[in-house]
Amino acid sequence: MSEAADLSKEAKFLGNLDQEIYRNLNITVVEDGVIIDWFQSPDHLQFKHSYTEPRLIRRLQPRQALVKACNNKQHSINRILDLTGGWGIDSLILAYHGRNVTMLEHNELVYHVASYSLNYARSIQHTRAAAECIEIIHINSLDFLLALKDSKIYDCIYLDPLFPDHKSSAKPAGEMQILQHLTQNQDIDQCFELALEKAGKRVVVKRPAKSRPISDLSADLVYREKTIRYDVYLTNRGNY
Ligand SMILES: C[S@@+](CC[C@H](N)C(=O)[O-])C[C@H]1O[C@@H](n2cnc3c(N)ncnc32)[C@H](O)[C@@H]1O
Repeated sequence: MSEAADLSKEAKFLGNLDQEIYRNLNITVVEDGVIIDWFQSPDHLQFKHSYTEPRLIRRLQPRQALVKACNNKQHSINRILDLTGGWGIDSLILAYHGRNVTMLEHNELVYHVASYSLNYARSIQHTRAAAECIEIIHINSLDFLLALKDSKIYDCIYLDPLFPDHKSSAKPAGEMQILQHLTQNQDIDQCFELALEKAGKRVVVKRPAKSRPISDLSADLVYREKTIRYDVYLTNRGNY
């Protein structure tokens, strides 16, 4: 069976499970990715997940705060562990800028969509090099961290938990709204604590620009963009 047929089967299978969260969802598998429709009156959200979409390719600029936050003066941050993989957009940006990324995602459907698009990106010249630097694993990040014996193998551990829905703030992009409908954060506080123990050089956390830090610990460095910021916690002060 082709991979596309496989993924359709997967989507149907999840639907047949009669999980409430999948009742408003429609999945269409195309060659280069997956089109995801979310119907919830009065909203219809649509998002094409593909690592070759021009809209995504435009987001790969080197000067953005994510790339700066996951870097250091010595340029010695190579291996990144992304604990909250999601659609894999941040992982792709980091891989495009030369990092090797292990991306973890606990939601089965989100994991399958990202894996499918990644396989296609590996077959296209423009995205091949970056896509080959990403490994995706379907797992709860807490389980992964607890099982991680060789504790300092990742230079940087990255967390981008789903943001709380603030009525006062503007709605996030459609793809993030769909993600908020489909999945949720799990064990994020414990993951952050373990990340501090296990990251070779730093832990980076994406937050809404005005929200509180993830814990009472103060960040060592902060990189800001208009609506978000990256809090950086150094775990090896010789390497910042
Ligand atoms: C805001 S999204 C990340 C978006 C991602 N940075 C991107 O660029 O597409 C957060 C993701 O983390 C996942 N997640 C939350 N808790 C997790 C856990 N304990 N283990 C693995 N994945 C988790 C959610 O399912 C969701 O897909």
